[in-house]
Amino acid sequence: MRLPERVTICEVGTRDGFQIEPEFIDTDQKVEVVDLLAAAGVPRIEVTSFVSPKAVPQLRDAEQVMARIARRPGTRYAALVPNDKGASRAVDAGVDAIHTVVSASESHNLANVNMTVAESLTKLRGVMQIAERAHVPMHGGISTSFGCPFEGDVPLARLESVVKAFVDMGARAIALADTTGMANPRQVASVLEHLIPRFPGIEWTLHTHDTRAMAIPNILAALELGVTNIDASIGGLGGCPFAPGASGNVCSEDLVHCLHAMGVETGIDLDKLVGVSRRVQEIVGRPLPGQIVKAGKSDRRYPLPDGVASRLISARSGRA
Ligand code: COA
Ligand code: ZN
Repeated sequence: MRLPERVTICEVGTRDGFQIEPEFIDTDQKVEVVDLLAAAGVPRIEVTSFVSPKAVPQLRDAEQVMARIARRPGTRYAALVPNDKGASRAVDAGVDAIHTVVSASESHNLANVNMTVAESLTKLRGVMQIAERAHVPMHGGISTSFGCPFEGDVPLARLESVVKAFVDMGARAIALADTTGMANPRQVASVLEHLIPRFPGIEWTLHTHDTRAMAIPNILAALELGVTNIDASIGGLGGCPFAPGASGNVCSEDLVHCLHAMGVETGIDLDKLVGVSRRVQEIVGRPLPGQIVKAGKSDRRYPLPDGVASRLISARSGRA
């Protein structure tokens, strides 16, 4: 396999995950999780979103969370923003990057942000101006890039037109999101093979959901094509309130375990990250989908069953 030496993970659990939790998570607990993630060496964190508190009441404390986190030098703290109002709030709150959201499919965009795709792109031009004035980079995020829960297939030309709109407004980074886990690895590869050469110089991110257990295979397909920025969510939290059937993102610690096992660096302390996942399980009050928390890392060893040890010794000495 042709894999990059290093992958940059952006943790989205406190945004994509906490936005859909049935119980409101206390501001202090959100802050605690963000700080623990930074202390584990996670280089980028999508902390929260600056959206309508009526649309996503769970993240109505975005300003307070941003104000209370302990800014670790070197960690990039971003937030999701759908419109100019969100951009101004995010800039005032001191985000290091603005992650915008628009869908490739008309139905999901209307359900998610109550705008047509064209209306969203107009709003996002305003977001870009606010971001530029504040010298904050804006990342273009595109939901339902690989399929829409309402419309099904999303034509590649449609996705490409949204990418082009972002590039034309000056975005240098674009995240393709598989909002409800509809993508498969061959599709991820063919979409990236199409887009990457057409938009040179763009930093691509893959944002996956593990709804159909294809998140890590999809990420591997993207890595083989040179994509090195991947979104992931602690414990596998996550889901979109406005996309039926959406479930958690690829689990951060499972992905980091997979990457480290293959010799790909992330700069993240996996043991600390597993500790954060355990803490998040306590906070949300239920087990999360992540596997490594349950199974342990692949270097975990077990005591031999009764009777096997003595037979093993004689088998080995017989061989010697
Ligand atoms: N932050 C806070 N409040 C906002 C806001 C923002 N970014 N954008 C709009 N509002 C407020 C307006 O001020 C207005 O408030 P009022 O009723 O007190 O006057 C109200 O929300 C309605 O504004 P309007 O522009 O008409 O928005 P809308 O009702 O059409 O909703 C969005 C559009 C984009 C604001 C809303 O759909 C939204 O926040 N969606 C977020 C979806 C999301 O986070 N999905 C998950 C991530 S993929
Ligand atoms: Zn998502």
